[in-house]
Amino acid sequence: MTAVQLGMPRVPGGAPREPRPDNPALIDTFGRVATDLRVSLTDRCNLRCTYCMPAEGLDWMPDEQVLSDDELVRLMRIAVERLGVTDIRLTGGEPLLRPRLEDLVARIAALRPRPRLSMTTNAIGFAKRARAFAEAGLDRINVSLDSIDPETFVRMTRRDRLGHVLAGLAAAREAGLDPVKINAVLVRGVNEHEAAPLLRFALEHGYHLRFIEQMPLDAQHGWNRKEMITADEILDLLGREFTLSPSPAERGGAPAERWLVDGGPHEVGVIASVTRPFCAACERTRLTADGAIRSCLFSTDETDLRGLLRGGGSDEEIADVWRDTMWGKLAGHEINEAGFAQPIRPMSAIGG
Ligand code: 5AD
Ligand code: SF4
Repeated sequence: MTAVQLGMPRVPGGAPREPRPDNPALIDTFGRVATDLRVSLTDRCNLRCTYCMPAEGLDWMPDEQVLSDDELVRLMRIAVERLGVTDIRLTGGEPLLRPRLEDLVARIAALRPRPRLSMTTNAIGFAKRARAFAEAGLDRINVSLDSIDPETFVRMTRRDRLGHVLAGLAAAREAGLDPVKINAVLVRGVNEHEAAPLLRFALEHGYHLRFIEQMPLDAQHGWNRKEMITADEILDLLGREFTLSPSPAERGGAPAERWLVDGGPHEVGVIASVTRPFCAACERTRLTADGAIRSCLFSTDETDLRGLLRGGGSDEEIADVWRDTMWGKLAGHEINEAGFAQPIRPMSAIGG
């Protein structure tokens, strides 16, 4: 991949206006190629993580706006066959709330070339379904888990479901999903004391733990830079109980910086989206549950594909609109710039 300079001046109005070269892949003007597709299957969730949504939930997308399985499979087929997508991650909201998700997984796994297939989930209800998902073709799973203490878990998620999540994790491992990753967000004054216990838990069970800096993507717009626990702080908290050294593994487009724990082989990851942005190596493109393409989590604009899809657009027309959207991808997310504007869609309606 070509080196990309961050801190490029922003093109007013979003999209850069060089003509897009004739290239089937999802390329952008900074030399990046998107091969990793994140598909949000629903904006609903059965938890209410405080950094994500208010206690009462949100106004969910109306059913008729949510893409059907057939529509989703068609878009994913176009992505894989025409646009060079090699990895598909199913996200939400909570993807497990989508009815008959095992069937959808099997249909995605049948696409050719077969994409690597993973899911980001809170794992509630996964315990009973893990084997079926593995058989359907799910390769990997990322489980969101911010606390292994039942009381702190309730404070973070407003639901008493820790046992379900832990059972889901164990079942994922038993079903042969590999690796089983855990994503954890630390919130000041609530669960920062759990950084080291979470790592100890992950090491004991063979899960790969990654901490994510809290990003300004909550529905209630309550994010505050001073409240955020930074990557440096996370490393500091872990450093009190473990010795961390930089992992020699190639990072590629992966968002996590990895650290060897106590000399290895176990590792811990830190996703420093805010303090050490990794936009220059981004390989991601996103599809929302209601059929919009986003070139970035933080895009303030997006491109509706549902109209074209339901209005009789051909595969190649859809592919071209997708390419145009990605061609307009900005250099970076600008959280650290004056005048940063949070996207209107919250994280729960974009997907992680
Ligand atoms: N900042 C960082 N991570 C978040 N997640 C949800 N909201 C935020 C936020 N504002 C995490 C979830 C999940 C993944 C999809 O993103 O905990 O692990
Ligand atoms: Fe649900 Fe994920 Fe939001 Fe938590 S962060 S409420 S698990 S969508």
